[in-house]
Amino acid sequence: MTNSFSSPSSDAIRNELLSLVKSVRGQVLDAERLYVAVDCKRPQPARKNKPDGEDRAEALHALSLEAANCRQCPLAQTRKNVVFGAGSLKAQVVFVGEAPGADEDEQGRPFVGRAGQLLTDIIVKGMKLARKDVYICNILKCRPPGNRNPLPEEINQCEPFLKKQLQLIRPRVICALGKFAAQTLLKMETPITALRGRFYDYEGIKLMPTYHPAYLLRNPSAKKQVWEDVQMIMKEIEPGEPS
Ligand code: URA
Repeated sequence: MTNSFSSPSSDAIRNELLSLVKSVRGQVLDAERLYVAVDCKRPQPARKNKPDGEDRAEALHALSLEAANCRQCPLAQTRKNVVFGAGSLKAQVVFVGEAPGADEDEQGRPFVGRAGQLLTDIIVKGMKLARKDVYICNILKCRPPGNRNPLPEEINQCEPFLKKQLQLIRPRVICALGKFAAQTLLKMETPITALRGRFYDYEGIKLMPTYHPAYLLRNPSAKKQVWEDVQMIMKEIEPGEPS
């Protein structure tokens, strides 16, 4: 009786093994190709896709919160409000004053008292800009008691806030109002009478020192010189863009 289940020849076994190896190899290659293809389509980690302005607005807001909670110097004990700054992130001009006075401390906004009204006139009537389109801030974010002059150690503590504000806004022109703003930003001790009337460089931004509006309230004849300085600023900015 012949065995219908006779054992396969060694050739047949070898051929079977070879085709098995080929098939496994093919599957591995297919899987590799598939993996690469799938891998390419794998969702990418969420990309940071916010407009530049939004990032800067968030950074400026975060900085304002940091200032609101600042207790680095004794002015934190006497202030009513931190006066961080106000205006447009896209401002072409940033005005930098000295420090909040009583009205600003009360309201938490810069230049809202008598000197502020004069600054508003310079911006609106003189420069024909809207106050909301410029940016206004101070060297110190908290009011020195009795409106005394800022102390060097208060300026040193507070200046990083201003530096970051200016870096984030990067206006075309910074207008430094008065001796403290001009001398602090320029790191110079030259009197404001000698500093005003020409542009300086502040980290790649044009900086014009001029008299403080509070000085103009006491010395109205100096308005002529401020007007000259302001006209130089106006030549540097783009008409029609937010200022
Ligand atoms: N004077 C300043 O220097 N800043 C103000 O905000 C108000 C008055």
